[in-house]
Amino acid sequence: MIALTYDDGPSAYTPVVLDALSRYDGHATFFVVGTSVTRYADSLRRAVAMGCEIGNHTYDHSNLKNLSNVQVQSVVNRTGQAVKDLTGADVRLLRPPYGSYHGATFTAAGMPVILWSIDTLDWKTRSTSATIQCVEQKAYDGAIVLMHDLHQPTVQAADAIMKHLKSAGYQLVTVSEMAAYRGGLDAHKAYTQFRKS
Ligand code: NI
Repeated sequence: MIALTYDDGPSAYTPVVLDALSRYDGHATFFVVGTSVTRYADSLRRAVAMGCEIGNHTYDHSNLKNLSNVQVQSVVNRTGQAVKDLTGADVRLLRPPYGSYHGATFTAAGMPVILWSIDTLDWKTRSTSATIQCVEQKAYDGAIVLMHDLHQPTVQAADAIMKHLKSAGYQLVTVSEMAAYRGGLDAHKAYTQFRKS
C-alpha cells in the first residue's frame, strides 16, 4: 500500500489527478485549503464520490506554530465545515502547512497530524520527470508521499506515477485506509508512514 497525498488544492489542475486515479482504480488524499474549496467544489465532490479522502490543510495555509489554540480551532474548523457543507464528508486528518505544529495543536484541532515520509519537492523542482523519478525510486510499502496539486508539472506526473506503482503491485489508498490496516489513528499523534508492524 502507498498513500499519495496532494496539498494546497483544490485547483484547476486537480481533475488531472482524479482522471489518473480513475484510470488506475486508485484513491488519494487531498489536504485542502479552505479558501479554495468553494471555487473548486466540483472537483472536491468528484474526489469524495471516487472514494478519495479530504484532509484539512487549514483555511488559509497558516503556520500553526504562530497561532493561539483558539485561532488553530478557527482555521481548522472553518475548513472542515466548508468541506462538510460542500460534500457531506467529514474531515478527520490534519496536515499542518510547512509540517509546522506544536503540542497543543492536537487538542485544538481534535485530529491526528499526518506528515509524510517521501517528499517529492515538487513545489521546488516544478518538474514532471523529477517528481516521477522521486516517487519511483523511493516508493515503499506504507509510505506517505507529499505532492501539491496546485502545480501543473505535478499533476502531469500523476499518470506515470500511478501506472508505475500499480504495475509494481501497490494499492493506491487513502491515509485513513492505510491506517485502518496498520494500527489505526490516534488523535493525539503525528504520523509519517504506516509500516507493517
Ligand atoms: Ni501547503
